[in-house]
Amino acid sequence: MKTARIFISSLVVVVSSFAAYAQQGMKETVGQYCLIGSSLNQRQSDGLDAAASAIVRTHFNTAVAENCMKSGPLQPEEGRFDFRAADNFVDYCEQNGLKAIGHCLVWHSQAPGWFFKDKDGQQVTREELIKRIKAHIHTVVGRYKGRIHGWDVVNEAIEDNGTFRKSPFYNIIGEEFIDIAFQAAHEADPDAELYYNDYSMSQKGKRETTCKLVKHLKEKGLRIDGVGMQSHNGLDYPNVDEYEKSLLAFADCGVKVMITELDFNVLPNPKGFGGAAVEQNFDYQKKYNPYTNGLPKDKAKELNERIFEFFKIYYRHRDKISRINLWGISDANSWLNGWPVPGRTNYPLLFDRDYKAKPVVEDIIKLYSK
Ligand code: G3I
Repeated sequence: MKTARIFISSLVVVVSSFAAYAQQGMKETVGQYCLIGSSLNQRQSDGLDAAASAIVRTHFNTAVAENCMKSGPLQPEEGRFDFRAADNFVDYCEQNGLKAIGHCLVWHSQAPGWFFKDKDGQQVTREELIKRIKAHIHTVVGRYKGRIHGWDVVNEAIEDNGTFRKSPFYNIIGEEFIDIAFQAAHEADPDAELYYNDYSMSQKGKRETTCKLVKHLKEKGLRIDGVGMQSHNGLDYPNVDEYEKSLLAFADCGVKVMITELDFNVLPNPKGFGGAAVEQNFDYQKKYNPYTNGLPKDKAKELNERIFEFFKIYYRHRDKISRINLWGISDANSWLNGWPVPGRTNYPLLFDRDYKAKPVVEDIIKLYSK
């Protein structure tokens, strides 16, 4: 009798712990070691995508706005700010227990056209552009003071070969625009974490110049807490050894490493495509869009294995990584359905078009439950 009782009670323990484990999301597992989240499009941060919110509540403890906190949408004209979507994003994060990440204060790609022109339509002076950078950052960061966990202060300022991108910020001000941006952000919210964020960070040149930049900012006594490796990956890029080398190099600079825009392109790309420079665009051709009716089983398996290969790296370096952020919740939301070739069906994220978790999510939960 006693044996039967012991057997039943241990069975109950096993079943209930399995049930608890089965209900566990990435928030309870990966979230033991770092922030885990996703970018939200405006419909999602307006709270209009119930399926996405269900995933957020189960799996995520952080989020970043995919677009609405960029300088173009925020300040479409000088001195005229449109904070509605950004306010909703920050409210959504607070309502859903998410650490809000601000993206991004200084980026050449979505700065509003007026930013670099004077009233006569000529190129703005260095002094005026510095004034505009400071005014934008002080206004935006100041508005959300105490409510944003960290900011992508400068985005994509370095080329793959390690030279500085010849953006209008660089051409008009010089490298110092980066110092100015970090200084202004810290003045506006002394408690917010501050990051440098970029793609193709496995490239040797970019790795080395990013490390030099971090050391330079620290030597100048400017706050920089982390480096964001965007990680717009593919099935056959980047080289994982070079990628891991960069992750370790950034950690060695004494900053947190973040995986900030993680996705995995599974489609064939046109020749000459590279990185995530959003300016690249190619005409649609059927050969670039082979999986319009779903991913073949072998491709789905290859994708799950590829994603898991990176999460094993993240787990191995869980003491160095402070955030893992997907660049979209469901495959349907991904920018990669429209870039660099418009009108495609891509499968880059952890949740499919029905918002169902791909098998790799369970593998990730098991890995981080060890
Ligand atoms: O909101 C307008 C809408 O009013 C207009 O009708 C429509 C058509 O012109 O455009 C809409 O804005 C688009 C925006 O996404 C929101 O959908 C912009 O044109 C489009 O360029 C923008 O693309 C974003 C891209 O950054 C450029 O900002 C992508 O969604 C976003 O995923 C992508 O994200 C970037 C990161 O911020 C930085 N790292 C690279 C990453 C991928 O490029």
